[in-house]
Amino acid sequence: MSTAAIVLCAGAGTRMRSERPKVAHEVLGRPLVQWVVAAARAAGADPVVSVVGHRAEQVRPLVEGTVVAEQPEQRGTADAVACAREALAGFDGSVLVLSGDSPLITGETLRMLADARMREKAACAVLTMRMADPFGYGRIVRGACEGEADLGDVHRIVEQKDATAEEAAICECNSGFYCFDAAALFCALEQVGCENASGEYYLTDVLEILRKGGQRVIAVQAADPQECMGVNSRVQLAEATRVMQQRINRTHMEAGVTMLVPELVWIGPDVTIEPDVELLPMTFLMGATEVGRDTVVGPNSRLTDTHVGVGCTVDETVAVEARIDDGATCGPRAYLRPGAHLMEGAKAGTHVEIKKSTIGPGSKVPHLSYIGDTTMGAGVNIGAGSITCNYDGAAKHATVIGDDVFVGSDTMMVAPVTIGNGAVVGAGSVITKDVPADSLAVARARERVIDDWAKKHAKH
Ligand code: UD1
Ligand code: CA
Repeated sequence: MSTAAIVLCAGAGTRMRSERPKVAHEVLGRPLVQWVVAAARAAGADPVVSVVGHRAEQVRPLVEGTVVAEQPEQRGTADAVACAREALAGFDGSVLVLSGDSPLITGETLRMLADARMREKAACAVLTMRMADPFGYGRIVRGACEGEADLGDVHRIVEQKDATAEEAAICECNSGFYCFDAAALFCALEQVGCENASGEYYLTDVLEILRKGGQRVIAVQAADPQECMGVNSRVQLAEATRVMQQRINRTHMEAGVTMLVPELVWIGPDVTIEPDVELLPMTFLMGATEVGRDTVVGPNSRLTDTHVGVGCTVDETVAVEARIDDGATCGPRAYLRPGAHLMEGAKAGTHVEIKKSTIGPGSKVPHLSYIGDTTMGAGVNIGAGSITCNYDGAAKHATVIGDDVFVGSDTMMVAPVTIGNGAVVGAGSVITKDVPADSLAVARARERVIDDWAKKHAKH
C-alpha cells in the first residue's frame, strides 16, 4: 500500500521566544523540519506534504522538494492537517502525520507504525511513549469504555490544558506521530470542533471521532521514547541536540573513528568520516564535510563543507568550503575561507588566513600570513608575516606565485602581481612589479650604518 506523509510546520512556536519559526531552529546544523522530512522519506513516504503558515517565507526554502500546503491561520493541528487535503486529493492509502518539531524520529519507527496499522486493521495508529515526567504532552486514555471490543485500544487523547488531575497522572503520552487511513482521516477532520481550553482544533480529537464511528484506533509504544521528543523550547532544543550528537557519534565510533571525549565532538548528519580518523575535543564537523583515513582533527576545530584527505593534521583550524588534500597540515590557528585549497603535503601554519587560493603541493605558509586570490605552485616557501595585498579598496586582484619561489619574511605582494618560477624575494619587500623567473627582487630602503653614532649619543 502506498504511504504519504503530512509534516506539520505552520505553528508559531511561542515557547521558543524567537523571531524565527520554530521548525527553522537547527539540530547539528539541520533545521528541525528537515530531520522529520528525512525520516518520512526513509519510511518510504511519497508524496511528502509540508504544511507551512507562520513565517511561511522562512519555512518554504527549508522544505524544498516536498509538496507545500498553506495554513493561512494557525487554528490548531487538526486545521493544519485539513490544509493538506487538496494536496492529497485522490490519494488512497496510509497517511503519516508528523510533527515538524520532533527531529529525533526515525524512518524505521514510522515504518513500524504504518505496518502496525495495516496489521491491526485500524483507521489510526498513534505512536506513544511512557514518560517519567509527562507534563506538556497529550495523555493517552485507553479502553475502559463499555462495550468496546478491545480494552487496550485508544479511547481518546486529552491535552495537558484540558486534563483532569486523574488524566494528568497518566504517563503514556502522545508523540505527535500518527498513521491514518487517508479517507477515514479527512472524513473525521470535518467533525472536529474547538471547544477546549485552547480554543484550537485538535488533531487528537480525530482519534475519538474515529472510535465513536466504530473504527479501531491503536497505540503503538515507541521502543525508544527519546525518538518522540518534541522541541518546544530552547531547553528541549539543547536536549534534542545532545541525543542526536550521541546517536551520530556512536555510529562513527562503531565505524572506526576515535573520539577520546565524544561529548565534546559535534558532527552533522551529512558528514562522512573514514576509519582511523581521530577527533579531539571541541571539534565541530558540519555540512557536507568529508574526512579521510588517518587524519587527526582538533582540538578546537570547526570544519564546514570542507574536504580533508588522508593523513592530514588539522589542529585548531576553522575551515569553510575549503579543500585540504592528502598529507597537508593546518594550524594551530589556521583560518581557511571559501576556495582555500591546500594541495598534497602543503601547510597553512599558525595565525594564517587563506581565501580563494591554491597552495601547491608541498608549499608552505607557516606563520602569520594572509593569502587571498592567489595561485601558488609547488615547493614554495612563504616567510613569516607575508601578505598578498589583494584589495585596492574597490576591487580584488590576483597574485600568481610560480614553483619553488622563496618569499622572505614580512613581504607585501601588491596584486595584481606575478612572481616567476624559482624567484627569490628579499625579506621586508613591497612587491608591486612582476618578478621574472629565477631572479632576486628586493624592494625596501637600503640599510645605512653610521659608525659610533650610539656611543656619541650615550645618555651617561
Ligand atoms: C501536540 C499534541 C500533543 C502531543 C505533542 C507531541 C495536539 C493538539 N497536541 O502538542 O498531544 O503530545 O504534540 O509533541 O495535536 N502546528 C501547525 N498548525 C497549527 C498548530 C500547530 O502546523 O495551527 C504544528 C506545529 O508547527 C508543530 C506541530 O503542529 O510542528 C505540533 O504543534 P505544537 O503546538 O507543538 O503541539 P504540542 O502542544 O506540542
Ligand atoms: Ca510540539
